[in-house]
Amino acid sequence: MVNINSNNQRLFHPNDEVKQRSDIKDWDLEIEKGKDIEKYWAQEAEQFDWFKKWDSILDESNKPYYKWFDGGQINLAYNAVDRWIETGKRNKIAILYINERGKEVKLTYYELYREVNKVANALLNLGIKKGDSVSMYLPMCPELIISMIACTKIGAVHSTIFSGLSSVAVVERVNDIKSKIIITADGTYRRGKIINLKSVIDEAMLQCPTVQTVVLVNHTGRYNDVADLRGNEIFYDRLIEGETDSCDCEVMESEDPLFILYTSGSTGKPKGVIHTTAGYMVGIATTFKNVFDIHDDDLWWSTGDAGWITGHSYTVYAPLLLGTTTLIYEGAPDFPDPGIWWKIIEKYGVTKFYTAPTAIRHLMRFGKKYSKLYNLDSLKILGSVGEAINFEAWKWMYEEIGKGKTPIMDTWWQTETGMHMISPIPIADLKPGSATKPLPGVQIAIVDEEGKELPPNKKGYLAITKPWPAMFRGLHNDDERFINVYWEEFPGGIYRAGDMAEIDEDGYIWIQGRSDDVLKIAGHRIGATEVESAFNSHPAVNETAVIGKEDPVKGQLIKAFLILNEGYNLDMPFKEGNRFLLREELKRHVRHALGPVAVLGEMVQVDKLPKTKSGKIMRRVLKAQEEGEDLGDISTLESD
Ligand code: WTA
Repeated sequence: MVNINSNNQRLFHPNDEVKQRSDIKDWDLEIEKGKDIEKYWAQEAEQFDWFKKWDSILDESNKPYYKWFDGGQINLAYNAVDRWIETGKRNKIAILYINERGKEVKLTYYELYREVNKVANALLNLGIKKGDSVSMYLPMCPELIISMIACTKIGAVHSTIFSGLSSVAVVERVNDIKSKIIITADGTYRRGKIINLKSVIDEAMLQCPTVQTVVLVNHTGRYNDVADLRGNEIFYDRLIEGETDSCDCEVMESEDPLFILYTSGSTGKPKGVIHTTAGYMVGIATTFKNVFDIHDDDLWWSTGDAGWITGHSYTVYAPLLLGTTTLIYEGAPDFPDPGIWWKIIEKYGVTKFYTAPTAIRHLMRFGKKYSKLYNLDSLKILGSVGEAINFEAWKWMYEEIGKGKTPIMDTWWQTETGMHMISPIPIADLKPGSATKPLPGVQIAIVDEEGKELPPNKKGYLAITKPWPAMFRGLHNDDERFINVYWEEFPGGIYRAGDMAEIDEDGYIWIQGRSDDVLKIAGHRIGATEVESAFNSHPAVNETAVIGKEDPVKGQLIKAFLILNEGYNLDMPFKEGNRFLLREELKRHVRHALGPVAVLGEMVQVDKLPKTKSGKIMRRVLKAQEEGEDLGDISTLESD
């Protein structure tokens, strides 16, 4: 039921069915319980099997290097897979994989367990030990999930690279963590085609000296023979052939690293965000249960790729930690037609569905025809992630997909937070467009530039005022940046999220975009400077400034302001006799450097860029001009 409150905000109240099903009956009470953060998270930690319980819950002695469950010993793979083998879930489907060609693979917990063990043994045989890093460049296929969990089982640190990123991105990430192994595939299915992934790896491996072995999943059947492989390459199937299907779990300290995932910041190269073991497990499992009211009979589908944090936390690990069935789909949302997602929901009876607003906006364009073709009655809860969901998309999702009965969980969080931070739970009263309130066990404030808390209805910086268990523990090889970007701005160990937000008189939080130069293109995070350096590496380009330009489907697109070198203009043929204009050549160049995630909207040629006296490009001036806003303080602009 939706109605309008006195502030003209639309209010959504959950129906009785949602309330009856929910394990949590009182939202405010649950938030109240979560105020004693140590007690709250320690209680949640009890749900797992520990080799040894913790000595302290939260150690704040060396801020911001917080420690959670220090002294404890545990293994995440054990809790996500092995422990279910002894229970009634043994033959329950853990992973349901489907691809756009209609192929289906079902892995029960027992089958997953054995596959993980084989890969874990194979990795051990290749010399991988606790603490070593393993890179992966794979599509959303069972082998990706199996490999991630296999690393976790033996204590290796996995680092996945989204399969839509370029060879340049692979080189940067693999070399930063000095991986000895990369697991990849020949290709991935996308809109009826096969995208070649192996050629990206071939190019990247020319510059990755630490990689000793390339493991190749023959996913699309492109390679038929070992003769097709190079000296340091081995087929995944061959690698695990003959490996035994039992393997002991490595005993991990609570604070041992679990994975490193790269994400974009506002400056410089991507940051290797480090997550550790016990706190991450406790944080993601608890929030998953709270936000989606997970029960044993649920069929969970998150469209988040394991190349990003949503895939790690809520496609792979949290569902398995709760013994849920997780559906993974390899393919686009609109192929063979824009009804494919709804067809899958109907066919398999998906109960909880989690996706990004950009996908919803894309599917909205095709109207109501496709969602009407399928029976979506199995759906109970919907979720949204990656950017704020605008009212039109919210309404369409609620009416067309949820048929007016499923609440939408708008979850705010980040690669760095590891887990949902601000989100409703199913019984909450919703205001579409607001991620509502901090979850139980999470403390948030909207602050000014000095870190002082602002009253309601004042726009400010989003800050997290108390540590949380799934928090990242650092940036790989970049302590200085870890401190500067997140912890130095506000005093007293308060985390600066990089978003602007406002809190209303009911305590509902309204996220208002980034306060830094991070762009969100179709939900993917990309730094303005990364795009600028990609442009600048082209011989025709002298200097670039990049901003995010609003787009009705993708949220933002890249808009580039370019100073070209003498003699160039965007509309000239790039080389004599070449049919391509420089404009198209630059598009190709940037895409090659960054991968298809870098969606270019507009390029304009300029003579000059606004700069500070010290020579820093003032992107906010360009952005304000673009949006027709007041330019704010430009007193530090370079004088003519
Ligand atoms: C944005 C994705 C508004 C935000 C899980 C954040 C959101 C960044 C929401 C993190 C939301 C994510 N409402 N904005 N519900 N969820 N964001 O690291 O700007 O890819 O800082 O993690 O996405 O992006 P990341």
